Amino acid sequence: MRVARTKGEVREAVAVARREGRRVGLVPTMGYLHEGHLSLLDRAKKSADWVGLSIFVNPLQFGPAEDLDRYPRDLERDLEQAAGQGVDLVFAPSVSEMYPAGPPRVAVVPEVGADVLCGARRPGHFRGVLTVVAKLLGIFAPDVAVFGRKDYQQVVLIRRMVEDLDLPVEVVTAPIVREADGVAMSSRNVYLSPDERVRARSISGALRAVKDGFRAGERDPNVLRGVLVDGLGASGLRLEYAELLAPDSLEVAETVEEGSVCAVAAMIGQTRLIDNAVLTLSAEAEAP
Ligand code: PAF
Repeated sequence: MRVARTKGEVREAVAVARREGRRVGLVPTMGYLHEGHLSLLDRAKKSADWVGLSIFVNPLQFGPAEDLDRYPRDLERDLEQAAGQGVDLVFAPSVSEMYPAGPPRVAVVPEVGADVLCGARRPGHFRGVLTVVAKLLGIFAPDVAVFGRKDYQQVVLIRRMVEDLDLPVEVVTAPIVREADGVAMSSRNVYLSPDERVRARSISGALRAVKDGFRAGERDPNVLRGVLVDGLGASGLRLEYAELLAPDSLEVAETVEEGSVCAVAAMIGQTRLIDNAVLTLSAEAEAP
C-alpha cells in the first residue's frame, strides 16, 4: 500500500492503475477509521479493482465553534487498518496541500437543500463538504466513489452535485454499520462518556420503534414522528431534528411509504450524533 502526501503522487499512481486497465474506486474519509469506514472500503472493492482512501480532516466543513481541533486523529492506526483492508493508496494530505492559497477562491455551494436538517445547524458545512469532495474527485478521477448512508443529507447533496455538474463518477451509498448495542458507528463516538454512550442507544432504539411501527402498517407521518420523539424523550439528549423524509429527497414526507427515511440529529453532552433508518417492509441486513 502506498501513502501519498501530495496530489501529484496520487495522480501518478492513478495513471499507472489506469494503464493497467484497472477500475478506480475512492473512499473519502476524515480518518480515525472504524468498522463503518472498513465496510465502505469493502464496498469499493466490489466495484473497483484499485481502491484509494483519502484521510483529511477538512477545515472548510467545520464551523468556528465546532470540533475541528479535537476531531480524533490517529494516522498510524488508520494506515494499519487500511493495509489490512487491501487499500492500494492512502492519500493523507496536509491542509496546505489541499488549500495552498488558503480558503479556496471558488467553492461548490449547494443552492437548495443545505439550509435544512444538519445544514440548518451547521451553516457552511455542506459548502465545505461539497468543495472538498469535488477536489478529491478531481484529484483521483475515480470511476466510483463510496459514501456512508449515515450522513444522509451529505449523500443526497453529493449525488446532486455529481448530477448537476456532470461529474463522471458513479456514487455508491453503503449502509450504516452499528455497534453491538445499536449505536451507529462514528468517529465522534469516542467523545462519549460511559453514561452518554448508554443514552446514545435511545437514538437507534427510537429508529427501530419507527421501523416496527411502519412494518405493523402505520403510515401517518405524525404518528411515526411521535413514536420517534417519544423514544428519544427520556434519554436527556437535546434533539436538533427528528424527521420523516421522502426517499432520495430532503423534503419532509407528507405520506410515509416504502423507502421513506427517518432521520435524527441530537446533542448528547458536547457530542453531536446523527443517525437514520430507511423504512422498508423487508428486513434489512443492518439494524435497526
Ligand atoms: O463524511 C465525511 O467523513 C466527510 O464529510 C467527507 C465526505 C470525507 C468530506 O470531508
